[in-house]
Amino acid sequence: MSAASASAEAAEPTVAQAFSEAFGTVPSGVWSAPGRVNLIGEHTDYNGGLCLPIALPQRTYAAVSLRPDRRVRLRSVQSSQTYDLGLDEVRAGNPPGWGAYAAGVLWALEQAGHQISGVDLMVDGQVPVGAGLSSSAALECAVAAAASDLMALDLLGDDGVREALAAICVNAENTIAGAPTGGMDQSAALRSQPGFALLLDCRDGSIAQVPFDLAAHGLSLLVMDTRAKHALVDGQYAQRRSSCQDAARQLDVSSLREVAFADLDDALGRLPDSVVRARTRHVVTEIERVRQSVALLRADRMADVGPLFNASHASMRDDFEISCPELDVAVEVAMAHGALGARMTGGGFGGSAIALVPVERTAGVTRAVIQAFADRGFGTPDCFTVTAGEPARRDS
Ligand code: GLA
Repeated sequence: MSAASASAEAAEPTVAQAFSEAFGTVPSGVWSAPGRVNLIGEHTDYNGGLCLPIALPQRTYAAVSLRPDRRVRLRSVQSSQTYDLGLDEVRAGNPPGWGAYAAGVLWALEQAGHQISGVDLMVDGQVPVGAGLSSSAALECAVAAAASDLMALDLLGDDGVREALAAICVNAENTIAGAPTGGMDQSAALRSQPGFALLLDCRDGSIAQVPFDLAAHGLSLLVMDTRAKHALVDGQYAQRRSSCQDAARQLDVSSLREVAFADLDDALGRLPDSVVRARTRHVVTEIERVRQSVALLRADRMADVGPLFNASHASMRDDFEISCPELDVAVEVAMAHGALGARMTGGGFGGSAIALVPVERTAGVTRAVIQAFADRGFGTPDCFTVTAGEPARRDS
């Protein structure tokens, strides 16, 4: 077990106590939101497509009190970087660093027409940072949950208001933090249910809860955090996004979601550029793999999803070109040691891979992956199993 799997029970008193030490008062409450892994459906969200994330047991906790003024004071158990700024100073690029994700949410709530005040806020992030597990969305959604309750905004009730809150968090990430991400992560953090994967249709925002009971199938979902660099603000993500937009424009559709799987060959024949063609092939086939995965899960055939994981990884490696040697090794070694399927998850260029593994093989796969990384001179990966956890909530 890694530090990332530290028990949720331990985190609440820690963050409340850290708040008291920093601000000299007791916080009004503690809220939390989970990280996510996406089971399948990568780089489909900004194409109006389908994806299938689960909420992780690892969460980000926020101890928060309202202030009578418009100041925002932010502290973190993990970071020495602190912030003290006015709500009116929040804009694209300010504050920099992790504060953008927290202050950005308050800004975005105000943009959406809500009455906002300043806060004192202490964060305890238990979602590994830079691992492709959406620590940023967990932070945004924990802050959003706190603001919703403390400012009586009522945005945590049913799924309809949670959908609206997710959109607000996406605006914060896109506009203030400057990461041009697509929205899957915030929906996973706010709209998931424990024991279920979240089928998210990014064309109309609708969701369905898909059974995902690993234990009932004797399977575990192993996360292999390669610790290889992962950043969504360095341009590669934006380039992929704009290639997809180019493809849609050339095909005269509003998004690649409008290209039916059955019409893929015809569409590819109309795209002269080989790179744009490959990007399109990934998106259209990946959306189809989500459909097939959901059908298998609903038919109680979880083990049969494995080959779709593998096909998804190959598509990301060869057509979307977002894998890296560490991710490929994690996937190959997991498969060689008994995984039923494995793929990188999240934005790519580093971060984590996941593997669907029979429970009795999980320790062996973990050992083999760690050994393979050592043999190749890569840093030690952090491997841990996860289940489908709870969405954003008030903890105390
Ligand atoms: C990141 C983004 C998401 C999504 C994934 C790739 O996690 O934040 O919006 O695009 O990459 O599926």
